[in-house]
Amino acid sequence: MSTAVVAISNQKGGVGKSTSAVNLGAALAGLDRRVLVVDMDPQGNATSGLGIDRASLESSMYEVLLKGVDLEDSIEPTSTGRLFVAPATIELAAAEIELVSTMSRELRLKSALENSLDQYDYVLIDCPPSLGLLTLNGFAAATEVLIPIQCEYYALEGVSQLLKNIELVQRSLNRDLEVKGVLLTMFDGRTNLSADVAAQVREFFGESTYRAVIPRSVKLSEAPSYGEPIESFAPMSRGAIAYRHLAGEFLARHEEVDGE
Ligand SMILES: Nc1ncnc2c1ncn2[C@@H]1O[C@H](COP(=O)(O)OP(=O)(O)OP(=O)(O)O)[C@@H](O)[C@H]1O
Ligand SMILES: [Mg+2]
Repeated sequence: MSTAVVAISNQKGGVGKSTSAVNLGAALAGLDRRVLVVDMDPQGNATSGLGIDRASLESSMYEVLLKGVDLEDSIEPTSTGRLFVAPATIELAAAEIELVSTMSRELRLKSALENSLDQYDYVLIDCPPSLGLLTLNGFAAATEVLIPIQCEYYALEGVSQLLKNIELVQRSLNRDLEVKGVLLTMFDGRTNLSADVAAQVREFFGESTYRAVIPRSVKLSEAPSYGEPIESFAPMSRGAIAYRHLAGEFLARHEEVDGE
């Protein structure tokens, strides 16, 4: 089976991209898959959420994308077995600008990943909340896009722009890219709003929408400050259960035996 490379993207901020990269990654690792989280966001939330001290890093995605550092040399193990992270620091903010004038600027991540792909079953790319060059690198390197959507007002705002960008990438950089998953996040079962948004998203995206829904949960928002995925921080919490459901469904979509 070839490695699935999943760009987790939504240019809307704070919808659960990094939380999903960390916790889907940990849940897949818990199911014996080898997983690499690539942090493409200068905020470095996936990096710190996985317990990596950004100040102590010798190299990070900035050096990988712009200084020719080998991706393998930047990768750090995490406290979760089989889960690894290619970390990001605030320096990566400069990459967005410095990349503009470099050769094959959209393909830097794709070529950096090439030699490492066979080490992992899944690569999850945590994209920043923009549609700039860092996200474009994510789309060019990916085999699919996972779109987290927060169950809040204006949930679908910007989604058509996102889909338009993905189509552009399909036409020019990466013919095989597909939106393979839409994930409802921060669902609040007590409100009609959450249910309304969920229904709207399911109507718009149909089967692409995962049945697993991530609830709004304080534990999920606390875990990053301990540098741990929910799976080890609070394994019996609703958030942990939801991400395990998601991982099961994710694997069913990716590893179904089709008699080939
Ligand atoms: N299901 C949830 N329940 C409660 N809080 C959550 C949940 N998911 C994420 N959060 C919190 O909401 C905030 C935004 O989440 P997260 O950082 O994952 O979003 P993001 O899309 O990566 O944001 P950005 O666009 O800034 O990169 C964080 O403080 C996070 O801890
Ligand atoms: Mg983020």
